[in-house]
Amino acid sequence: MNFSPQLRTPGPTPIPERVQRAMAAPMINHRGPEFKALLADVVSGLQWAFQTSNDILVFPASGTGGMESAAANLLSPNERVLVPVIGAFGERFADLAEAFGAQVVRYGVPWGEAADPQDIDEILAKEPEITTVLVTHNETSTGVTNRLGEISQVVRRHGRLLVVDGVSSIGSIDLPVDSWGVDVAITASQKGWMAPPGLTMVSVSKAAWTRQGKATAPRFYFDWERARKMQAQGATFTTPAISIMFGVREALQMMRQESLPSIFRRHQRLAAAFRAAVGALGLRLLAQPEVASPTVTAVYLPEALQGDAGKDLLRTWREKYGLVVAGGQGHLTGKIFRIGHLGAVTEQDVVATASALEAGLRDHGHRFDAGAAVAAVEGVIRAPDTTLVA
Ligand SMILES: Cc1ncc(COP(=O)(O)O)c(C=O)c1O
Repeated sequence: MNFSPQLRTPGPTPIPERVQRAMAAPMINHRGPEFKALLADVVSGLQWAFQTSNDILVFPASGTGGMESAAANLLSPNERVLVPVIGAFGERFADLAEAFGAQVVRYGVPWGEAADPQDIDEILAKEPEITTVLVTHNETSTGVTNRLGEISQVVRRHGRLLVVDGVSSIGSIDLPVDSWGVDVAITASQKGWMAPPGLTMVSVSKAAWTRQGKATAPRFYFDWERARKMQAQGATFTTPAISIMFGVREALQMMRQESLPSIFRRHQRLAAAFRAAVGALGLRLLAQPEVASPTVTAVYLPEALQGDAGKDLLRTWREKYGLVVAGGQGHLTGKIFRIGHLGAVTEQDVVATASALEAGLRDHGHRFDAGAAVAAVEGVIRAPDTTLVA
């Protein structure tokens, strides 16, 4: 019997009891004063977490909805855009822009690698008609974090608009929206925000507003201008995701108590601990180590456990040891598994996960030194903090 399963998927993520209790509050009128206060708290908390004074808009939708809102508000038919594709969510951004009539220049790298800022520089230099770069910060399908600080410098130098899918990074990995000059940053409640899926949050810069006023793609539900006017009055156009907003408000309070630098450092430590565990188990990371993600670790299944055998392993972890991890996406289905470690995950949780990883692998005949993964994790989490700060 597993009384409390370990949810180690890279979204949805575990919800702290405090957040759960906040979401159980009685319903309120979304055109009344309590909602006005709730919206103000959520928006100001998000501005703190996004490190921005830009407008932040919230919509009842998943992260893809936030991405779609960017396409609908920023693009016009035949607009030329650049999408660095380093995994499944980069593909999604490219497909989405195409669906809105853009001419998409796809810059792809093998899955497991990050985009090279120099390549982006060269493409933008060669293609002055590209107006917009749509980039994934943290590619959840491969466990790779793009070097967004450098990419943003390049994009700014070329004077193009920068739109960032920060769905699995903002609030967990440092993304200082204002100092990096990110025009649009998008995230969703079920990731580092420790809340259920259903709320997308989008920051919009002055330059993005100027573009929004000229862009002609069709928009309705996600019309940013209408959302801004409504939010200025303390309301939203449609019925908002009230309970999730109760949860996000509480989660933001917890995040303020922990502080952003501590949160980012915790995620780096958890990721380093999982990478050490993977090595101790004789397994291989998908990501190049220097760009491995602080929020999700993608691991090749052992040769003998790929395909259906991998599905059986995931079932053993889930049913016998209460550990829920994610499988691979796209061409990596059956080849990798992914461990999510974002949001409400502690160092002690990683010890428990390493123990369950060992137990399932042992049951399926994978050979390694018993206790090696747990020892590797403990070695990392007991190390002085300073060794892990980037
Ligand atoms: C990097 C990234 N982008 C976009 C999405 C899509 O978000 P959603 O599933 O909330 O629509 C996800 C979800 O996992 C993601 O991790």
